[in-house]
Amino acid sequence: IESCIRGKFGRVVEYHDAIDSTNIRAKRLAEEGAQSGTLVVSDCQIAGRGRRGKEWVSPSGTNVFMSLILRPDILPGSASMLTLVAALAVHEGIRQETGLEAFIKWPNDIVANGKKLCGILTEMSAELEGIHYVVAGIGINVNMEVFPQEVSSMATSLYLETGKKVRRSSLIASVLEAFERYYEEFISQGDLSGLISVYNSCMINAGKEVKILDHAGDYTGKALGINEKGELLVEMQSGEVKHVISGEVSVRGL
Ligand code: BTN
Repeated sequence: IESCIRGKFGRVVEYHDAIDSTNIRAKRLAEEGAQSGTLVVSDCQIAGRGRRGKEWVSPSGTNVFMSLILRPDILPGSASMLTLVAALAVHEGIRQETGLEAFIKWPNDIVANGKKLCGILTEMSAELEGIHYVVAGIGINVNMEVFPQEVSSMATSLYLETGKKVRRSSLIASVLEAFERYYEEFISQGDLSGLISVYNSCMINAGKEVKILDHAGDYTGKALGINEKGELLVEMQSGEVKHVISGEVSVRGL
């Protein structure tokens, strides 16, 4: 991996053949003072985790499981925007390595043909005044040919979509390079304002009717795109524009 790395992200890489979860390991390293840009990669995970406590299928030999440690000088409330930055980076890395035009499903899934190619789990340690660290955990289904039955209707891989095997180390390097570029843009602006148009152009739901499910119930409207805070703007039939905050919401296409 190191030989493919061109920038600051991933200059320090810790590689494992197997590990419980690269996020758990990256959090431990961050607690011990690891520098921003340190990357943990594993060939497989014994206890890979997704959002909402779900399991993340993590077999050996086929996929990418990695966690990047970041120490952004931003307020804790802005950290969720980093997940959108990570999604942009994966989207870009996939395009560069395979030519595949995947889509971002707001806020941070990468999908192709309605199935998930990549998931991102961002975790942070912070206090009121600032962030100690953020761990951006990225799982990409790369060369996997068969998924367990429970997830096979929802998951796909780069191989299944393109018919070509992908070199995982090159993909990691491309994602990191794009991540660094988008991250610097985000940090210099303090928000996503410089990335709105590129994000919206990759977003699957832009301009389409969506159904939003959150704690307050569900409602439908037209997804207009994101704003500088990474909120999804949804235009209701009444003309009112709702700002949907990522978190415990689910977005469905209609
Ligand atoms: C999701 O639910 O969509 C997020 C999935 C995140 C999976 C990645 S794989 C690398 C890192 N380690 C983990 O245990 N989870 C993340």
